Amino acid sequence: MDDLLPAAPEALSRRHFLRVAAGAAGMTAALAGAATPAELMPPVWQPTSDRKLRIGVVGGGFGLSFHWHEHPNCVVEAVSDLMPDRCQALQQRYGCTKAYPSLEELVKDPRVEAVAIFTGAPDHARHMLLCMDHGKHVISAVPACLTLEDAAAMKAKKEQTGLTYMMAETSYYRPHTILARRLFRDGAFGEMVYCEAEYYHPWPPGSAERHNLAFRNGERTWRHGLPPMLYPTHSTAFLVGVTGERLTRVSCVGHRPAGDDMYGPEANAYKNPFDAGMGMFLTDGGHPFRCNVSWNINAHGERAQWFGTKGALYSDGSGGQPTSVQVLGRNGAGLPDFMGALPPAMRQDSGHGGSHPFLTHEFVMALIQERAPAVDLYEALAYTVPGIVAHQSSFKDGEQLPIPSFDRV
Ligand SMILES: NC(=O)c1ccc[n+]([C@@H]2O[C@H](COP(=O)([O-])OP(=O)(O)OC[C@H]3O[C@@H](n4cnc5c(N)ncnc54)[C@H](O)[C@@H]3O)[C@@H](O)[C@H]2O)c1
Repeated sequence: MDDLLPAAPEALSRRHFLRVAAGAAGMTAALAGAATPAELMPPVWQPTSDRKLRIGVVGGGFGLSFHWHEHPNCVVEAVSDLMPDRCQALQQRYGCTKAYPSLEELVKDPRVEAVAIFTGAPDHARHMLLCMDHGKHVISAVPACLTLEDAAAMKAKKEQTGLTYMMAETSYYRPHTILARRLFRDGAFGEMVYCEAEYYHPWPPGSAERHNLAFRNGERTWRHGLPPMLYPTHSTAFLVGVTGERLTRVSCVGHRPAGDDMYGPEANAYKNPFDAGMGMFLTDGGHPFRCNVSWNINAHGERAQWFGTKGALYSDGSGGQPTSVQVLGRNGAGLPDFMGALPPAMRQDSGHGGSHPFLTHEFVMALIQERAPAVDLYEALAYTVPGIVAHQSSFKDGEQLPIPSFDRV
């Protein structure tokens, strides 16, 4: 459940339809600068519990950019990184005196209830399983996993233990995506016929970005040669995280860069020849979805365009494209401010569209309220697994392949 959505729509009586249509129009008016009816604004945060979740935070790179210490219902019990300087940085950031030299040590601490895993992508599945074997709830960075076998193992472990898993997908809480979810729920798009989503992060040969991401102290990192479609969730979240549809088939064409020694059958640990994947997916609602990931295109960022029978929404982009909201015959160019739904200390932008405080808040409150988080394991696998199959398709010149479901049966 997403805290930022209004209650699920009741059966669409004519009265209700008029109300939601007016609501969507009101929201659009707000985007253009006019007043928004109070009932349409995101709920304002109210304290609901004194309980504090005791979390362990692991991985002092990206893991430094969350807000656990600022949430009134959370305390950082312990931190860990294999690298002592990163471990210290975590202690400093989260005001935590207890540190362990590894996750493997941290999970033995009985006071830790949940673990935030910000280790490298190939380790997420193994680390999630380890944490749950020790009775800990888990939030991990994206992607949930890199193989179908790991997806199955994560689902089995979650169902066996009854513990909570959430994936920290930043695209889910970008303001465009929150708005798209609200407009979709309120019927303002009509039928969502088609969506285009993309994640472009160039790190070409010889660039400082290549040097920093693919190597550390002269050694290759997990990012070296990473297949783009094994990192699909920033893009897939824009559709799956809005309509809740499942991606059932994919045809993906990969790009093989010439003269780049990071890609090729023997060039990296993944045996990956592709620096880009352009996927054409089909949803279980019969809707086409174009989804791209590239490490070398000269464009930057995560963005989407949503097209319905009644409305459309366009994210701004690195090419100078503006945000544009076109619903119910009206145009808007701005976005509502959703920060009021957060505890006051967390109302700050921290990158990736300001999504980090929302992800922090959602995981903490899901555990405090004993409910499933918005991006639970089933959603996480619905964002992640389609990319794994897309990568397989690109080895077969874009043959359309079925995507297995890891939903609850
Ligand atoms: N927008 C986003 O959602 C976004 C952005 C950046 C990174 N990420 C994700 O965040 C994760 C971390 O990214 P990063 O750039 O910090 O990677 P990184 O490789 O720089 O950092 C991973 C850290 O985990 C530590 N680690 C690994 N195994 C450990 C263990 N067993 N115990 C303790 N520490 C351990 C490493 O020492 C390292 O410091 C990745 O999965 C990445 O995909 C997501």
